[in-house]
Amino acid sequence: MSKTVIAEIESLYDRQGHRRYGLESISQLEHALQTAARAEAESEPAPFIAAALLHDIGQMIAGLGENPAEDGIDNLHEQVGAAWLRERFGEAVCEPVRLHVAAKRYLCATEPAYAASLAPDSVLSLFLQGGPMRDREIAGFLAQPYAQDAVRLRRHDDRAKVPNAQVPPLDHFLACVEALGNERR
Ligand SMILES: [Fe+2]
Repeated sequence: MSKTVIAEIESLYDRQGHRRYGLESISQLEHALQTAARAEAESEPAPFIAAALLHDIGQMIAGLGENPAEDGIDNLHEQVGAAWLRERFGEAVCEPVRLHVAAKRYLCATEPAYAASLAPDSVLSLFLQGGPMRDREIAGFLAQPYAQDAVRLRRHDDRAKVPNAQVPPLDHFLACVEALGNERR
Protein backbone atom coordinates (compact mmCIF):
# COMPACT_ATOMS: atom_id res chain seq x y z
CA MET A 1 0.00 0.00 0.00
CA SER A 2 1.31 3.44 -0.88
CA LYS A 3 2.77 5.82 1.70
CA THR A 4 0.13 8.36 0.59
CA VAL A 5 -2.73 6.11 1.71
CA ILE A 6 -0.98 5.38 5.01
CA ALA A 7 -0.55 9.13 5.54
CA GLU A 8 -4.24 9.71 4.75
CA ILE A 9 -5.29 7.14 7.35
CA GLU A 10 -2.87 8.58 9.90
CA SER A 11 -4.23 12.05 9.29
CA LEU A 12 -7.86 10.93 9.72
CA TYR A 13 -7.04 9.36 13.08
CA ASP A 14 -4.96 12.40 14.10
CA ARG A 15 -7.89 14.71 13.43
CA GLN A 16 -10.85 12.52 14.40
CA GLY A 17 -9.51 9.54 16.36
CA HIS A 18 -9.95 11.22 19.75
CA ARG A 19 -13.73 11.47 19.26
CA ARG A 20 -15.90 9.35 21.49
CA TYR A 21 -17.02 6.02 20.03
CA GLY A 22 -20.82 6.08 20.25
CA LEU A 23 -21.91 6.07 23.87
CA GLU A 24 -18.86 4.12 25.04
CA SER A 25 -16.11 5.57 27.22
CA ILE A 26 -13.51 4.94 24.55
CA SER A 27 -12.35 6.88 21.50
CA GLN A 28 -12.68 5.99 17.82
CA LEU A 29 -8.94 5.25 17.77
CA GLU A 30 -9.09 2.95 20.82
CA HIS A 31 -12.04 1.11 19.28
CA ALA A 32 -10.24 0.67 15.96
CA LEU A 33 -7.05 -0.58 17.67
CA GLN A 34 -8.96 -2.99 19.89
CA THR A 35 -10.87 -4.43 16.92
CA ALA A 36 -7.64 -4.90 14.96
CA ALA A 37 -5.87 -6.38 18.01
CA ARG A 38 -8.66 -8.94 18.44
CA ALA A 39 -8.42 -9.90 14.78
CA GLU A 40 -4.64 -10.24 15.06
CA ALA A 41 -4.94 -12.35 18.24
CA GLU A 42 -7.20 -14.73 16.31
CA SER A 43 -4.52 -15.04 13.58
CA GLU A 44 -6.76 -13.49 10.95
CA PRO A 45 -5.11 -12.73 7.57
CA ALA A 46 -3.61 -9.28 6.94
CA PRO A 47 -6.46 -7.89 4.76
CA PHE A 48 -8.93 -8.83 7.49
CA ILE A 49 -6.81 -7.11 10.16
CA ALA A 50 -6.80 -4.01 7.93
CA ALA A 51 -10.60 -4.25 7.60
CA ALA A 52 -10.87 -4.56 11.38
CA LEU A 53 -8.72 -1.46 11.90
CA LEU A 54 -10.61 0.55 9.28
CA HIS A 55 -14.17 -0.76 9.70
CA ASP A 56 -15.50 2.48 11.21
CA ILE A 57 -13.44 4.86 9.10
CA GLY A 58 -16.73 6.06 7.61
CA GLN A 59 -17.65 7.47 11.05
CA MET A 60 -14.70 9.81 10.74
CA ILE A 61 -15.29 10.68 7.09
CA ALA A 62 -19.05 11.21 7.54
CA GLY A 63 -18.41 13.84 10.25
CA LEU A 64 -21.89 13.49 11.72
CA GLY A 65 -20.99 13.77 15.40
CA GLU A 66 -20.18 11.16 17.99
CA ASN A 67 -23.50 9.34 18.19
CA PRO A 68 -25.79 10.39 15.34
CA ALA A 69 -28.19 7.56 16.23
CA GLU A 70 -29.17 9.60 19.31
CA ASP A 71 -30.52 12.21 16.89
CA GLY A 72 -32.30 9.57 14.82
CA ILE A 73 -29.73 9.65 12.02
CA ASP A 74 -28.22 6.62 10.29
CA ASN A 75 -24.96 8.04 8.96
CA LEU A 76 -24.51 4.99 6.67
CA HIS A 77 -20.92 4.84 7.87
CA GLU A 78 -20.39 1.34 6.47
CA GLN A 79 -21.18 2.58 2.96
CA VAL A 80 -19.18 5.79 3.31
CA GLY A 81 -16.22 3.80 4.67
CA ALA A 82 -16.43 1.06 2.04
CA ALA A 83 -16.60 3.62 -0.80
CA TRP A 84 -13.49 5.37 0.56
CA LEU A 85 -11.68 2.05 0.97
CA ARG A 86 -12.71 0.84 -2.50
CA GLU A 87 -10.62 3.59 -4.07
CA ARG A 88 -7.58 2.36 -2.19
CA PHE A 89 -7.90 -1.36 -1.29
CA GLY A 90 -9.09 -4.71 -2.64
CA GLU A 91 -12.33 -6.54 -1.92
CA ALA A 92 -10.99 -8.44 1.09
CA VAL A 93 -10.64 -5.12 2.94
CA CYS A 94 -13.70 -3.25 1.56
CA GLU A 95 -16.36 -5.94 1.64
CA PRO A 96 -16.27 -6.92 5.34
CA VAL A 97 -16.45 -3.19 6.12
CA ARG A 98 -19.41 -2.66 3.78
CA LEU A 99 -21.21 -5.66 5.29
CA HIS A 100 -20.48 -5.17 9.00
CA VAL A 101 -23.82 -3.47 9.71
CA ALA A 102 -25.69 -6.12 7.69
CA ALA A 103 -23.82 -8.70 9.79
CA LYS A 104 -25.20 -7.12 12.96
CA ARG A 105 -28.72 -7.27 11.52
CA TYR A 106 -28.10 -10.91 10.51
CA LEU A 107 -26.79 -11.91 13.95
CA CYS A 108 -29.70 -10.17 15.68
CA ALA A 109 -32.11 -12.19 13.53
CA THR A 110 -30.41 -15.54 14.04
CA GLU A 111 -28.83 -15.48 17.54
CA PRO A 112 -31.08 -14.28 20.36
CA ALA A 113 -28.08 -14.23 22.75
CA TYR A 114 -26.24 -11.90 20.38
CA ALA A 115 -29.16 -9.48 20.19
CA ALA A 116 -29.42 -9.50 23.99
CA SER A 117 -25.72 -8.68 24.36
CA LEU A 118 -25.68 -5.58 22.15
CA ALA A 119 -24.43 -2.34 23.68
CA PRO A 120 -27.09 0.40 24.12
CA ASP A 121 -25.74 2.57 21.27
CA SER A 122 -25.73 -0.45 18.98
CA VAL A 123 -29.36 -1.19 19.85
CA LEU A 124 -30.29 2.41 19.08
CA SER A 125 -28.55 2.36 15.70
CA LEU A 126 -29.90 -1.13 14.87
CA PHE A 127 -33.41 0.18 14.39
CA LEU A 128 -32.24 3.07 12.23
CA GLN A 129 -30.30 0.49 10.17
CA GLY A 130 -33.41 -1.58 9.45
CA GLY A 131 -33.67 -3.75 12.59
CA PRO A 132 -32.97 -7.50 12.68
CA MET A 133 -32.77 -9.01 9.19
CA ARG A 134 -36.01 -10.40 7.82
CA ASP A 135 -36.05 -14.07 6.77
CA ARG A 136 -36.17 -13.13 3.10
CA GLU A 137 -32.99 -11.02 3.44
CA ILE A 138 -30.88 -13.71 5.10
CA ALA A 139 -30.11 -15.90 2.07
CA GLY A 140 -29.10 -12.82 0.06
CA PHE A 141 -26.72 -11.75 2.81
CA LEU A 142 -25.15 -15.20 3.21
CA ALA A 143 -24.65 -15.50 -0.55
CA GLN A 144 -22.23 -12.56 -0.56
CA PRO A 145 -18.60 -13.73 -0.73
CA TYR A 146 -17.47 -11.83 2.35
CA ALA A 147 -20.55 -12.42 4.54
CA GLN A 148 -18.70 -14.74 6.95
CA ASP A 149 -15.78 -12.31 7.21
CA ALA A 150 -18.28 -9.58 8.05
CA VAL A 151 -19.84 -11.74 10.77
CA ARG A 152 -16.41 -12.41 12.31
CA LEU A 153 -15.53 -8.72 12.04
CA ARG A 154 -18.79 -7.86 13.77
CA ARG A 155 -18.00 -10.12 16.71
CA HIS A 156 -14.54 -8.51 17.13
CA ASP A 157 -16.18 -5.09 16.79
CA ASP A 158 -18.70 -5.75 19.57
CA ARG A 159 -15.98 -6.87 21.97
CA ALA A 160 -13.69 -3.94 21.21
CA LYS A 161 -15.23 -1.45 23.62
CA VAL A 162 -13.10 -1.97 26.73
CA PRO A 163 -11.94 1.20 28.50
CA ASN A 164 -8.14 1.42 28.95
CA ALA A 165 -7.36 -1.90 27.22
CA GLN A 166 -3.69 -2.40 26.38
CA VAL A 167 -3.29 -2.71 22.64
CA PRO A 168 -0.48 -2.12 20.11
CA PRO A 169 -0.25 1.46 18.77
CA LEU A 170 -1.61 2.65 15.42
CA ASP A 171 1.88 2.38 13.84
CA HIS A 172 1.87 -1.37 14.45
CA PHE A 173 -1.31 -1.87 12.42
CA LEU A 174 -0.37 0.69 9.79
CA ALA A 175 2.73 -1.39 9.11
CA CYS A 176 0.39 -4.33 8.49
CA VAL A 177 -1.74 -2.20 6.14
CA GLU A 178 1.36 -0.94 4.33
CA ALA A 179 2.59 -4.51 3.82
CA LEU A 180 -0.64 -5.42 2.02
CA GLY A 181 0.65 -4.11 -1.27
CA ASN A 182 -1.69 -2.54 -3.78
CA GLU A 183 -4.50 -5.07 -4.07
CA ARG A 184 -7.06 -2.71 -5.51
CA ARG A 185 -8.87 -4.24 -8.42
FE1 LIG B 1 -17.17 -0.62 15.33
